[in-house]
Order: sequence, then C-alpha cells, then structure tokens
Amino acid sequence: MNDKYAVIWTRGKDGPIKMCDLVVTERQTRFTYTTDFLASGNRHGVSLLADPALFQESPVVYDAKDLIPLYPRFLSMIPGRGQNNIQRRIYTRILEQRPNPPAPGLETDWELLLLAGHNGIGHLDIFRDDRVAENYYTHRGDSFHHPAAGDRSKFWAFLRENLQGEVVDLDAADIAEILGPTPSVGGMIPKVLVAIPEGAGWNGSFAAPGTTEINGTPCLDVVLKIEPMEYQGVLALEALCLDWHRRLDFEVPRFWQCEQDGMRLLAIERFDRTPEHQPIPLESLFSLFAIGDREFQETADIDMDELGRRIEVLGEVIHLDVRATQREIYRRFVLAFFTGNGDMHLENLSLLGGPEQARLAPVYDPAPMRAWPRHNTRSAIPLSFEGTEGMGEVLLKLAASFGVSTSHAKELISTTLEATEAYLEALQQLPDVPANRIKYLLGVLTREREQFSLPTTF
Ligand SMILES: Nc1ncnc2c1ncn2[C@@H]1O[C@H](COP(=O)(O)OP(=O)(O)OP(=O)(O)O)[C@@H](O)[C@H]1O
Ligand SMILES: [Mg+2]
Repeated sequence: MNDKYAVIWTRGKDGPIKMCDLVVTERQTRFTYTTDFLASGNRHGVSLLADPALFQESPVVYDAKDLIPLYPRFLSMIPGRGQNNIQRRIYTRILEQRPNPPAPGLETDWELLLLAGHNGIGHLDIFRDDRVAENYYTHRGDSFHHPAAGDRSKFWAFLRENLQGEVVDLDAADIAEILGPTPSVGGMIPKVLVAIPEGAGWNGSFAAPGTTEINGTPCLDVVLKIEPMEYQGVLALEALCLDWHRRLDFEVPRFWQCEQDGMRLLAIERFDRTPEHQPIPLESLFSLFAIGDREFQETADIDMDELGRRIEVLGEVIHLDVRATQREIYRRFVLAFFTGNGDMHLENLSLLGGPEQARLAPVYDPAPMRAWPRHNTRSAIPLSFEGTEGMGEVLLKLAASFGVSTSHAKELISTTLEATEAYLEALQQLPDVPANRIKYLLGVLTREREQFSLPTTF
C-alpha cells in the first residue's frame, strides 16, 4: 500500500479549523497538530488519549495492529461492513465506478473514510487535502436549510428496496446527492444522520443534518434508524428499552417513532451536538482501549471485571469522574441483563466531551437483542462464572470492580429485578413486534428470572 495522506479539521465556535495532518502507512498512523490549532487552545483533539495540550508539536504515533491497522479512533468513521450499511453501499458503488478502484481491504477502507469521514458522529472531519476541506465548508451550507422532502420518495424507495435485498438500478451519485455529504454511522441497523422538526410528535419529515429549521419550525439533529426486514420489531423493542432506562432514571436522549411508506423509523436525538449544532467529541471505549493498550484488539480481549478497573486507568489521564462512570456502567449492565440486552459491547459505551471534562455518554443502543436466537448471549463483553453459583453471585462479585459496595449492589439488583417485572408485562403489549419474537424474549427473561438468586452469604 502507498503511504496515505489526509487532513483532519473540526468545527469550533469560530468556524472550521484545521487540526492536523495525517499520514497512514501499512505500519503506522501518524498525525501532528497544526500551530493554529494549538494556538486556539482547543483541547478537543483526535482522541481523548491524544490531548493536544500534552502532545503539542510532537507527532502522535500509532503502530498498526493485525486487526486494527488504522488509528482506532477512525474506525467508527468508516462505514461498517454489515450489508445493511447504507453509506457503505452507496460509497463502494461510487468507488467501483472510478477508473482505478481501490483494492479491497485497507485501501478501500481508506477511500471510504475520505468519502464519508465528515459531518458524522463526533467532531472530526477528515478530507483528502485542505482544498477539499475548504471547498466542503464553503459549500456545506448549500444543501442545508432545504428539507429533503422533494426527493424523499426516491430516497425512501431506494432504502426500502435495499432493505429487501433487491437489486436497485439507481445511480449511486444521485443517491449520494440526495443524502448530501453523507455522514457515516456504523452498525447493524441501517441508519442515516438527519435533522427533524422539533415537537411532541414527528411526521417523518427530515432534512440534511445541521439544518436549523424547516418551514419556521426549529430542527434538531437525530440518528435515524430504519427497521430492516430481518430484525422486525427491533425498533419498537429499542424504543421500549430507551423508555425503561428513562423510567429508571438513566440519562436517555429523546426519541420518536414513526412509520413511513411501510417502513418503521426511530429517530433519536443526538447528544454529540450542542443546541447551537456545534459538534461535541464522542469516543467509544473500544477506541480508547485500542489506542491505550498495545495488546487490545477486540471486545473479547477484556472481561467485565477488567472493564471496571480500566475506567480507573482512564481517569488517570482524562478528567473523568471515575466512581460515577463505573457505577453508571454497572447500573446499565444490571438493567441490560434484566431487559434482555446482551449487546452492551465497547462500541455501545462512549465518553462524551474533551479531556478536560469527559463523561459517560447517555444511553444508546439498548435493544434487547436476546429476542433473536443468534444474539442470545448474556454479555457481549466476556463474563467470568468461575467459582460462582450463578448470575446473582456474578453480579455481586462484579460490583467490586466497579467501585460498588455489596450492599448497594444487592439493593440495586433487587430494585431492578422488581421494577422490570412490569417491563415483561409491557413487552407483551407491544403492537409492532412479531409474536414469536416476544415469546422468545419472554422465555429467555423468564428463565433467567427463575434461576436468579442473590446469595445470602456474600
Ligand atoms: N443519540 C446519539 N447521539 C450521538 N451519537 C449516537 C447516538 N446514538 C448512537 N450514536 C452513535 O452512533 C453509533 C451507532 O449507533 P447505535 O449503536 O445506536 O446503532 P448500531 O450499533 O447500529 O446498533 P446495533 O448494535 O443494533 O447494530 C454509536 O456507536 C454511537 O457512536
Ligand atoms: Mg451500537
């Protein structure tokens, strides 16, 4: 692979600013902050672990790993490999049409990063060079303030056919134009970033992300999820879990459900934007561990016990309320267990904000994936059962690694167990979920509850 060059910009209070030059080779990622960026005093660098105030003019160097050849912070900006990833589908088609399409693998990922790596989640914008960046910021406003309503049917038709796995004969460039400079969001459920009119209800209308108003109504930026055929009911289940997290006093973004052209949609307010639409850094624990630890390559490289301790280590380099973060993750894990969400992996936990003031991001992606047999695992992050009698004892043992006392953990678990009884009831009332899914999830949860006990001697 040739050496690759790119530039990283961000949007601050005073407008776009170049953050650094970036070089990627097969062996290394290297970037250096610009004098302008350093002089601006902005601490929101490429990663929480690449604080400009610490690195100053010295290059930040990352040695490529087998499974993570690129700087881990960029991974979430590359449209994921899942066949439902809308951006990846559109952009790979654009790449295929080039005279010299990139080779599969890192070459393709790199080109996808350059195509999709701006105006996405978080505060980093990656471009091929400064000219492209400047051009982007100059013309970015053009597509804004215009609701996409006129082109929506084309867009939805594309999405619908795509989701049904049919061959679509639509010009990829057209679609890219419809979506605007499409940001990328990874994951299994197809999604796009858009703005919707603010209000109690939502009728399905949307505009390009960053749009401030539609016909006089103020807009807010959302992650818009579109229900795929193979996961019928998943959005209603996710919405139910968001609601339950809110009831149990977790910090949860606002969300709206709606049906459009026979497609189920879930719009979730973005927490990586200020009310003035300024980007706020958002970095997953996956990225943080992969940057900070040479040995770490995948979620399964740590276990739940270690996760608690690693938050403490992060607190040594980032301004973070370690105890509050640990306690919150533990609380989320307990609720995840009793709601049937075995999918709390390290991309589903992120820190929000810069190194001077980071905190755990609000709850996102809490869908009870155990409703699908192939996702029916208790925990995406490995969990040790060694020397224990069952899940009750495992949860109590785990508490210590998250700075939670046994008595507090017992109380939390009992309260959650009791509170989620009504969740099982609510599950049965959900109209938009296939009956066999509900039956399966109820079966899983009922069995877990029957087997569950808290050891009295702990
Ligand atoms: N409300 C939000 N505000 C800002 N960023 C968000 C929000 N919700 C999700 N994100 C970001 O978008 C990414 C993808 O979203 P999410 O995890 O909800 O979907 P997903 O991973 O596709 O779901 P699944 O795991 O079922 O495939 C997250 O990892 C997170 O970085
Ligand atoms: Mg996710």
